[in-house]
Amino acid sequence: MLYDYQIMQNTSTSSPETAASASAPAPEASTHFGFKTVGEHEKAGKVAEVFHSVASRYDIMNDLMSGGLHRIWKAFTIGRADIRPGMKVLDIAGGTGDLARAFAKRAGPSGEVWLTDINDSMLRVGRDRLADSGQLIPTAVCDAEKLPFPSGHFDRVSVAFGLRNMTHKDQALAEMRRVLKPGGKLLVLEFSRVAKPLAPAYDWYSFNILPWLGKKVAGDEASYRYLAESIRMHPDQDTLADMLETAGLSRVRYFNLSAGLVALHEGVNLG
Ligand SMILES: C[S@@+](CC[C@H](N)C(=O)[O-])C[C@H]1O[C@@H](n2cnc3c(N)ncnc32)[C@H](O)[C@@H]1O
Repeated sequence: MLYDYQIMQNTSTSSPETAASASAPAPEASTHFGFKTVGEHEKAGKVAEVFHSVASRYDIMNDLMSGGLHRIWKAFTIGRADIRPGMKVLDIAGGTGDLARAFAKRAGPSGEVWLTDINDSMLRVGRDRLADSGQLIPTAVCDAEKLPFPSGHFDRVSVAFGLRNMTHKDQALAEMRRVLKPGGKLLVLEFSRVAKPLAPAYDWYSFNILPWLGKKVAGDEASYRYLAESIRMHPDQDTLADMLETAGLSRVRYFNLSAGLVALHEGVNLG
């Protein structure tokens, strides 16, 4: 194919037909949406459908699916974030706001904590929960791949269970690094590669119980099948650590949680 294109470019007597093909736009790059291959422009829309559909049942589903474990994974992340009064913190893909609520408590009135997400249905649930707990913090609908914040603004940037859904993860990580102050820390909590002996049981659970729970509780089997598939397509611990380094983060390390079911990656922006 590439060879054909070069021939067409080099020919001086091309017919109108070949000339038109030669100037045709390059074919669109593809990516994955779960196990399906889709055009890059399609993925964000499909991910949006998933989270519009599950937003109202998202929190209850998290507790049911993980048996409450997601609270422990997030508590570990909050501890590692080490938020102190007055800090500026950005929670990306923050959804219903578990991390942002905890960060806001620790940063206090002199701090600045943002809850952001690309999906307004998820963000609306998060904002209501913040209001119910008496916390008023800024929220913004924004795409992690194009953050509307100045460079070097935040002491901490977090993304929990969001990176997996992004089309250009490298671009999103570069943006996260850009908005960190020198010395600021990025925390990425995400599903990862579980220890081998547990893999068969985990696969059985993921492809049988998760979609069944999704159907019964959220009325949406397909979104929870996507969850199981997207976890399998996400980079493993070492690959993601390399991606953080490529994005310009230093002192990159990760912690396996629950035998690698989930991993917390950290990196520091040394400027
Ligand atoms: C599984 S939820 C995680 C919500 C929350 N962080 C938590 O841990 O409960 C994933 C979130 O990622 C968001 N998301 C997906 N792609 C995004 C993007 N490109 N930029 C920002 N948020 C995105 C979705 O809208 C969704 O709210």
